[in-house]
Formats: sequence, structure tokens, C-alpha cells
Amino acid sequence: MAIQRVTVLEFAPTADEIWRLPHHDRDGYARYDAEDGLLSFTDTAHHAKPRPEIVTTYAGGKATNVARVLDRLLTDEDQLQVELATFLPPPSEGPLRDLGLGEMRGTALVPSTAAGIYVQCLQLADLTRVRPRFEVVDELEEIGKMQTTRRCIEITLQEGGGSVNFSPRIVWSQEAAEAVQARVAEVARDADLVVMAGAPPVWEAHAGSDFTRNSFYAKIMSTLQPDCQVSIDARGQYLSECLLAQKTPRFILMNTEEFEDLSGFWRELGDRPFPGTLLVHNERGCWVWNGKLPEGEDPFSGAEHFPSMRVPEVYSTIGAGDAMHAGFLKEWMAKECLDRAIVYSQIVAAISVGNEKATHGVDARTVDDRFTQFWSEDEFGQ
Ligand SMILES: Nc1ncnc2c1ncn2[C@@H]1O[C@H](COP(=O)(O)OP(=O)(O)OP(=O)(O)O)[C@@H](O)[C@H]1O
Ligand SMILES: [Mg+2]
Repeated sequence: MAIQRVTVLEFAPTADEIWRLPHHDRDGYARYDAEDGLLSFTDTAHHAKPRPEIVTTYAGGKATNVARVLDRLLTDEDQLQVELATFLPPPSEGPLRDLGLGEMRGTALVPSTAAGIYVQCLQLADLTRVRPRFEVVDELEEIGKMQTTRRCIEITLQEGGGSVNFSPRIVWSQEAAEAVQARVAEVARDADLVVMAGAPPVWEAHAGSDFTRNSFYAKIMSTLQPDCQVSIDARGQYLSECLLAQKTPRFILMNTEEFEDLSGFWRELGDRPFPGTLLVHNERGCWVWNGKLPEGEDPFSGAEHFPSMRVPEVYSTIGAGDAMHAGFLKEWMAKECLDRAIVYSQIVAAISVGNEKATHGVDARTVDDRFTQFWSEDEFGQ
């Protein structure tokens, strides 16, 4: 049956900021050594105060990136209903509990912490076809070491082209992880496809519990309806339990570095059946295993390779994998043709890396024009 309802799950509500910092001995960076990747600042005790320019602020998180690119790729003809569900902390005691919040395009803002409300506003501002859904989970309250929302800051150097990325981890408790899992079962009850991306939050698992960070995606999958399919983009360590479970993901995406983490694992799996598709990618393209998994010795040997598209100038590879994931799903859901969906995903990724705004610069018209041109000229053309 065709996929109609998609739920993208965001466990890491994030506000991303990009700052551009000029070179200045006091108020900027004092030195940058590209070879060693070392950047020097003068500290506050020496009366320096960096003055970066704030280039942009937007809703981040891997799943949110996928949802945003999907939003850009959907058109009036698409009958798909795509929801981006974000799991947020409740407001702490005090006036934020009584804050009157409005609604926008049918989505109600919900009381949360200031950061939680900020992320909601950023998501709403950026999505037109994908519907955000905000789920406040009491167990996500930011007490003690818990950090259930975050700001990620990318500092790019005005001269020299380097960048530094501050990306705090999302820190949960065991109770928070279990409460979110229970909520997912409700949120995704009617979904035909659930999308997850990125590393799960960290928490200290209770002694003896098998509900750990590494098993999180497998646990989430176990609560979904039996016919709900799953697409996951994550490092191998978060996927190994999913591959050992009875129900495996329909699609698994990862980059080649993440894939290499799993090199010993394929042998362990032996002849276990895998009815899904594995897509492994880097700047040279995408390796695909359909209905099978890599084998021991040279794991790449059993894959079909789809080369990446030529990009005249690479501006930013940030989120390229997320753009690819979104492109792949969009085209897969339209025609359920694997070759088409992979070629389409490579075009979306190439547009994302080849424009100044990265994933924000992807739009359906440009992708479709390029796809039509490529597909009819290409060896795959029907
Ligand atoms: N330098 C590049 N030139 C051309 N295409 C690229 C380049 N980098 C990435 N791509 C395209 O983007 C796709 C995904 O890129 P990559 O494998 O780097 O993603 P990723 O490491 O998962 O990135 P992220 O996790 O930041 O989203 C590649 O398959 C390729 O099509
Ligand atoms: Mg990636």
C-alpha cells in the first residue's frame, strides 16, 4: 500500500545559529592554523570580547533537517501528510505555565521552557507543507544534568574558510527515554512511515536495564504498528539492535565513515534475512544493498554504486546527508522505484552542497528540472 502518512521524529529540539567571526587580535580570532585545525582566541581576562556577526538562526536537529528539505520538495500534487513531531520539556514552575500561546496554520504552540517555545517558533517559521507537532513530555523537565533542548553554534571564520561547531548533547534520564517511547506509540499510531535521524540522546541507563542509548531506536521500532515502515539515518552502533530484531527498518542510511564502524558486524549477522534497503554514501555517491546486507570480507563488493552528481562549486556539505534522505523518501513515496529515488536523492544532495544556503537552498522546481533532464538522458531512462 502506498505511503500516505509520514511522521518524522525529532528527539533533539535544536536552535541552530551560524556566526561569522572576523580576524581581529582582540575581538575576533587571533590565529587559525588550518593544518592542525587550531583556532586561538584571546580570553576575557585580556579584555577581549568576540563580536561575531549572526548570519542565520533556524530550527536544527537531523530529523528537523530532513523534514525541512521534504517541506521544500513537496508540491500541491503531493497527497502526502508529513508531520514533524518534536519532544519538548514542560515549562518549569512560574509564569511560563500560564503563558497564552496562539496557533499558526492549524498548529497550536504549547507551553514549554523558553527554549522549547523558541524551537517551536523556529520550526513553524520554516515549514509550510510539513506540519509540526509539539509533544510536551513531563519527564523531559530540565532538572539536574538533563538537557532536553539545545542551541548549536557554528562559527565560521570570515577569512580562511575554517569553522567550529559547538553542539551540546541532549541528555535525558531513563524515565525520560521510556516516557518518550510511550508517547511515540501514540504520536505515530496512524503513520505508514516513521523517520528517525541522528544519534539518540544520552542517558545513564539503570543497572540491568536493556533500554539503553544503543537500543533506543530498536525500542522505538518495537512500539510501532506492525505495518508501519521505518527509515533511519544513524551510525551503526544505534542500528545493530534494529537489524537483530524481528522487524527491521525499511531503509537505513549512513555515510561511509559510519558504515565502517560496522565492519565486523555483518559477519555476525550471518544469513539473517533483510527485506529492506541499505544506502551508504559519501561525496563520491551512494552504495546500495537492496534486500540483502553487506558480507564479511569486502563489504562494498555486493553493492550497486550510484555516482554523485558533479557540483561546480561546493559551498557547504552541512546537512547533505539529511537532504539526501529527504530527497530519497520524497521520490520513493511518489513512485516506489528504487533507482529513480536514488538518482533523485543524489540531485537533491548536489543542490544542497552546491548553493550558499545549503539545505535551505533546495527547492522542488530546481530539483525536478534537473531530475527530468538527467533521467531522460541517462542510462536508467525508460
Ligand atoms: N563534496 C561533494 N561533492 C558532491 N556531492 C557531495 C559532496 N559532499 C556530499 N555530496 C552529496 O551529498 C550526499 C551525502 O553526503 P555525505 O555522505 O557527506 O553526508 P553526511 O556525511 O551524512 O552529511 P550530514 O550528516 O552532515 O548530513 C552524497 O551522497 C553526495 O551525493
Ligand atoms: Mg549523515
